[in-house]
Amino acid sequence: MLKKKFFAKGGHVISGEVVMPGDKSISHRAVMCGALAKGVSRIANCLMGDDVKATIQAFKSMGVEFEFDSQFSFLIKGRGCHLEHPRRTINLQNSGTSIRLITGILAGLNLSARLDGDESLRRRPMERIATPLRKMGAIINLREEDFPPIDIISSKRLEAIEYTLPVASAQVKSAVIFASLFANGTSVVRELTRTRDHTERMLAQFGVDLRVEDKEIKIQGCRELRPVDLEIPGDLSSAAFFIVAAIIARSGGVKIKGVGLNPTRDGAITILKEMGAKIHIENKRVLGNEPVADILAFPSMLNGIVINKKLVASAIDEFPILFVAAACARGETKLTGAEELRHKESNRLVTMATNLRRLGISVELFKDGLTISGGDFKSGEIDAEGDHRVAMAFAVASLRAEGGITIDNAAEIDTSFPNFFDVAETLGLRLTWT
Ligand code: S3P
Repeated sequence: MLKKKFFAKGGHVISGEVVMPGDKSISHRAVMCGALAKGVSRIANCLMGDDVKATIQAFKSMGVEFEFDSQFSFLIKGRGCHLEHPRRTINLQNSGTSIRLITGILAGLNLSARLDGDESLRRRPMERIATPLRKMGAIINLREEDFPPIDIISSKRLEAIEYTLPVASAQVKSAVIFASLFANGTSVVRELTRTRDHTERMLAQFGVDLRVEDKEIKIQGCRELRPVDLEIPGDLSSAAFFIVAAIIARSGGVKIKGVGLNPTRDGAITILKEMGAKIHIENKRVLGNEPVADILAFPSMLNGIVINKKLVASAIDEFPILFVAAACARGETKLTGAEELRHKESNRLVTMATNLRRLGISVELFKDGLTISGGDFKSGEIDAEGDHRVAMAFAVASLRAEGGITIDNAAEIDTSFPNFFDVAETLGLRLTWT
């Protein structure tokens, strides 16, 4: 049986030098683009979390072959546009990125399929991808008009689209971009707020001629992807847990090497620095088509701030751990413009507010954000509600809770960070499954 509850005993010192597993968003896209390329690509340092495994499994069920040469690197024999019809329902488990991007790909390739997921994925909104894909001519049915299972019904070649995204979502943007690759004509996708641009960068590496100008992306249809060899940077979203651990620890410091620092993803670093965190970035370089660097973080006195709404999209996955930092800061931290957090693996505004309150931190919750008053953590038990990032955030919070924190419903840590326990223990956190 999957262990799901653990005890985090905290500690005072966080120190050491570590590397993070491959970036989750980039790993998904590498598998997808490799599967769609004509020929053999090699992907190194791929994240082997459950989410990316679900993406790999999906393409295997469509006839794509993978040949592993180590635990994290493999050859992928792309089939160009010629994926096989999946015979069974494709189960994308917990992974929003997989289900939304693969829907775009299958609609574009005109393949019929049913895509489904676990209880959490079945609660996540899919209308946001169905709307633009239907405008392109796809036939897509959703449960209760918004939720998985998603049925894609093969019809005719899609037509190009001009589409302005109503929500700031890289998954919606990417679903439309992937569908546009196989459509008639040139599509134009516009964003009101820039979201992570890994799809655009990755497709450029695979030889697709995308035109990106500020918040507008032009995609010519009927393109072919050519295979490439690529190495995936370390995941900044995973690094964020240990950056905050070092910041709220009493002593020590961490160095995290080779972390992706894409400017559409680094909002958490800006927010933490504004709160007074001692973070240094060194050894900046480029890996493939993505900026990477080494990140150093040290114990710091944090102050509450009003988080700039413009940073929400570029820090979207880091709010659980940023809320822990806010709880350790002097004064209030206020976040607004973040209603999207209600649509993640759990309703992260509610899950985080409820659990912080359980540990004695006062939180005022509103529709699109919250205010956290910095204070002292009590020890106690929280319910991560199957949300990996909530579970990891409270493991880190245990550094400030004398007596420790018990974290229930935490098995999903494996979706994004299967070696979280090993890295945490190397740096000085004390975690045990109960
Ligand atoms: C992701 C985009 C974001 C993010 C998710 C990964 C991606 O979701 O929260 O973890 O890889 O494109 P949204 O597009 O729903 O904001």
